[in-house]
Amino acid sequence: MANYPSDNVTPLRPGISTASALSTAPADDRHIPFIDLQAQRKRLGKSIEDAIARVLDHGRFVAGPEIDALEARLSDWCGAKYTVSCASGTTALSLGLSALGTKYRDAIFVPAFTFVSPAEVIARLGCIPVLVDVGEDTFNMDPDSLVRGIQMAEEHGLTPRGLIVIDLFGQPADYPALQKIATAHDLWLMADAAQSFGATLKGNKVGTLTKLSTTSFFPSKPLGCYGDGGAIFTDSEEIAGEVRSRRQHGQGEDRMTHVRIGMNGRLDTIQAAILLEKLAILGDELKARDIIAARYAKGLKDLVKVPAVTPGRTSAWAQYTVRLKTGERDQVRDFMEKDGIPTAIYYHTALHHHAPYTGYPRADGGLPVAEKLAKTVLSLPMHPYLEADLQDRIIESLRIAISKVCGG
Ligand SMILES: Cc1ncc(COP(=O)(O)O)c(C=O)c1O
Repeated sequence: MANYPSDNVTPLRPGISTASALSTAPADDRHIPFIDLQAQRKRLGKSIEDAIARVLDHGRFVAGPEIDALEARLSDWCGAKYTVSCASGTTALSLGLSALGTKYRDAIFVPAFTFVSPAEVIARLGCIPVLVDVGEDTFNMDPDSLVRGIQMAEEHGLTPRGLIVIDLFGQPADYPALQKIATAHDLWLMADAAQSFGATLKGNKVGTLTKLSTTSFFPSKPLGCYGDGGAIFTDSEEIAGEVRSRRQHGQGEDRMTHVRIGMNGRLDTIQAAILLEKLAILGDELKARDIIAARYAKGLKDLVKVPAVTPGRTSAWAQYTVRLKTGERDQVRDFMEKDGIPTAIYYHTALHHHAPYTGYPRADGGLPVAEKLAKTVLSLPMHPYLEADLQDRIIESLRIAISKVCGG
């Protein structure tokens, strides 16, 4: 079998992105993408094409050797004993929920400021997502709101079973505090690390912070493939075995015996081959993201609320999301768009304001932080190949937008 991955990629020089070496256009004429996957592709050179060609040659498009190789590499990388790859981050959540044990109508706690996937998989299993507020500084699940949510659920005769904790935008949640609460109430805790793969808490990598963690390899994630993909990380042989079985139609000892209800939840071999190449540069890319985040903070912290990384943690910086004053955002975004700067809003609607989720229970005290964030967050271009001069243009544009449009 071929070696994975190729090591003939251009290294990043400390503090300098490869893209700057590749581009010759004057700064002001260059298009600023929100996420620049092409710059990463250039850096990886022919290694991606070669990896795909190897799969085309051996022809094992499903369950090919790259799947095992990727799972082993991911385990080496993050320290989880078992990695099970799968079709998407949503598939990973769904497989994980089944493996942890959920019964019809169980109450499962989930933050209200998030992408919809975690609540979606809970509801699709016939369980009840109970919405919990998030912390203002981290955007992650607020332990106090979780306690109020558990009390409320118990008072209303629900059966609390577990919680899905989300590391929104790249920073691990407060696992020590959340785990303590979960243990006190006999709940399991699952980590949705779709946006935080590569981050750490007290030196431990995401993937090892709880009994079961999931991630997404959606193209724009810190580790993304060229399509859909995901993975589950665990130290439990039992959970890994169950998830592997459910990923493959609930397969038992042999392919034609089905011992539990499963699904087709497999990752394609071609995506595994691509991920092997990308994983080889992830560490380097995370360093570049850190440098870019620090430059944003330096250029903007006097003007807007910049993201705060809690001491003892690192972020994978899936997004760089600032907070504006209520009412400023649309005009600021408009100004920046006209100035050639793309921005995004993750997420303009808190979960409980999306039609299918309006009726689900909420923690006592409501979800005021989630609601406020939905009105005030703005994500700026963030990827490891963002050149310093282009980043300065983004900073400048936001500064002018706020002072001109909002008189700030
Ligand atoms: C926090 C979170 N969880 C889960 C997912 C779902 O991942 P996927 O799109 O791979 O299904 C996403 C995707 O954006 C996400 O941001």
